Amino acid sequence: MSTSIKTSKDFKRTTVTAALPYANGGLHIGHIAGAYLPADTYVRYLRMKNHDVVFVCGSDEHGAAITLRAKKEGISPKEIIDKYDTLLKNSFKDFGIEFDIYHRTSTDLHKETAQGFFTTLYEKGVFTKQTNEQFYDEKFEQFLADRYIVGTCPNCQNDNAFGDQCEKCGSTLSPTELINPKSALSGEKPVLKSTSHWFLPLQNYDTWLREWILEDKKDLWRTSVYGQCKSWIEQGLHERSMTRDLDWGVPVPLQDADGKVLYVWLDAPIGYISATKQWAKNQGEENKWEKYWLKQKDEAENSRLIHFIGKDNIVFHCLIFPIILKSHGDYILPENVPANNFLNLEGDKISTSREWAVWLNEYVKEFPTKKDELRYVLTSIAPETKDSEFTWATFQSRINNELVDTLGNFVNRTVVLINKYYEGTIPNIDLENAEIKNSLTDFDKETLEGIKTQTEKVSQNLESFNFREGLYQVMELARIGNKYLATTEPWKLQKTEPKRVEQIMKISAELTANLSILMCPFLPETSAKIAQMLNLESESKEGLKWDLAGRLNLLDGKINKATLLFEKIEDELVESQVKKLEDNKARKMQELKETHSRVSNEDKEIAPIQPEIQFDDFSKIDIRVATIKNAEPIKKADKLLKITLEVGENEVTVASGIAEHFSPEEIIGKQVCWLANLAPRKMRGVVSQGMILLAENENGKLVFVSPEKMVNTGAQVK
Ligand code: MF3
Ligand code: ZN
Repeated sequence: MSTSIKTSKDFKRTTVTAALPYANGGLHIGHIAGAYLPADTYVRYLRMKNHDVVFVCGSDEHGAAITLRAKKEGISPKEIIDKYDTLLKNSFKDFGIEFDIYHRTSTDLHKETAQGFFTTLYEKGVFTKQTNEQFYDEKFEQFLADRYIVGTCPNCQNDNAFGDQCEKCGSTLSPTELINPKSALSGEKPVLKSTSHWFLPLQNYDTWLREWILEDKKDLWRTSVYGQCKSWIEQGLHERSMTRDLDWGVPVPLQDADGKVLYVWLDAPIGYISATKQWAKNQGEENKWEKYWLKQKDEAENSRLIHFIGKDNIVFHCLIFPIILKSHGDYILPENVPANNFLNLEGDKISTSREWAVWLNEYVKEFPTKKDELRYVLTSIAPETKDSEFTWATFQSRINNELVDTLGNFVNRTVVLINKYYEGTIPNIDLENAEIKNSLTDFDKETLEGIKTQTEKVSQNLESFNFREGLYQVMELARIGNKYLATTEPWKLQKTEPKRVEQIMKISAELTANLSILMCPFLPETSAKIAQMLNLESESKEGLKWDLAGRLNLLDGKINKATLLFEKIEDELVESQVKKLEDNKARKMQELKETHSRVSNEDKEIAPIQPEIQFDDFSKIDIRVATIKNAEPIKKADKLLKITLEVGENEVTVASGIAEHFSPEEIIGKQVCWLANLAPRKMRGVVSQGMILLAENENGKLVFVSPEKMVNTGAQVK
């Protein structure tokens, strides 16, 4: 079965969701580039098309992380979520991400909605109940998630190993393997206690998922999203517990479920629905949410659901939540989940705990007039097909070379010249008139054609969630404009050929007007400034409309004086921002050093150096930088991981003996060095191409040999 690619036109209305952020931390540029900015851009586009859209988000206020932090700090979860809900809401607002509603999962409305879902699924017999033994903290009267049990690692004797993993030797553990386990909450020895939970048997939906995703979404969803779903499905799905023993969350609505709450990943996505309900209530139309979420009897009434998320949320939005919606029976399923990969920062992964991040609330405070600049840079480097990287130097060069020199320059020249030559009145020329068209040069016609072509390209890219390319095509129109003025040079002709100059300026003005429309979803403030300069916004009270794009007589009468669109970013700004990051990192490292004892390298003997070789010998060795795209266990080979590396345009497979040192998830995205021209070997049925370079640390744990800064994959090590 194949599905033709649908666009917004094929639907009557759309619900756009952006991942509900956990209310225990702030937002950084990785979150913005990953989910909120593309969602906001897309929604602005739909609104410009008068498409019926509701854009929902809110705080994710439950889950073990919030509960345990509250217990540790001796405050209530409510104090934490209230603080961060406000911070999150304000950061979005100050940055101009315009949800129709920003809701909370701690509200009664959400509780009722989530419990209603659980009850429906329970009554349909969807869940299975199971009883197991789990560690329990008697002092805090609480069952402990694996992560919250610490003890001595049976493999390396590290005293601070976690119940799921020892971070010193990297081995994966289960809490019962720890020697002398202690609760991370009370420090007391936990006891084993049996407890019952309700499980969702994902494996029962295998056949359906294969059809709904693997067949129907093949050409529709992003390759990376589709690929992750495929790999989950093919590895075999298992049941997952949908309840937890916690005192913070949505209570399980059953008689025999005291002290149990819904698993946060059952609760949170339902938050999209309760948010839509609250939005409808706010409008005084309580039932209005239904047509956005419930299956319609009438085909022509079709509604569509789109989830914007980061790649760490794919399994929940593409497999688990759809299974929940499907087994409920009344709900529509997501049409698309344009998940993004990760954004790195200055050569390293963004990390909240290491304070390696650019925080949105700090950015808007420091640069209140540069929101579009950040929107521009983050969309230009959006991690749509693979992980990408933000550096302050890129921020500077994108703004200076593209926004200031290309976009700002073209708009400014056009507006200034019209003011100078015609006292701000647009030359009265009908560009749709056949006779006038005939009098234009081929270059004029080509330029005008560019307006149409770029409109088409930008629309297509927005419809297919290619925001990065969409923005590039907007800028392409600015480049066309720049080239037009630079080639026609009206300032040289004004004295001798004023009639010709009128044509040139009219064409430039119409191009500018179109630019303002096309950039509106991406750079709303800049678009409004240009529209204001050109008196374009008077066209429509609700703002610019997309169907104006591609037209040639948008302007007449008076325009206003030119205002500054963008300023150059000075080197000092780049330096001070990088310094701020480095200072944070140094402070964190110091804190870590103080809490952990130092590992000394003294009196360690190193392995003897190999016999001398000549440079020629060395140059036979071809070592490349590669990025780990995927890693998975190899059946019946405990030590091996099957690793897929990205090397330039290619992908290669390597079997590497690191399974006891790393879990597959933790290494995906890492850059490593790869011995490229080692003869292939077959290991446990896997043909291994080349070898990944590793070193051993003082505890016998393997570590990757990686470039100090990210470089393009395929780069030679020499
Ligand atoms: N809070 C989760 C995170 O930050 C995302 C929740 S998305 C939702 O990773 F679907 F559950 F709402
Ligand atoms: Zn260990």
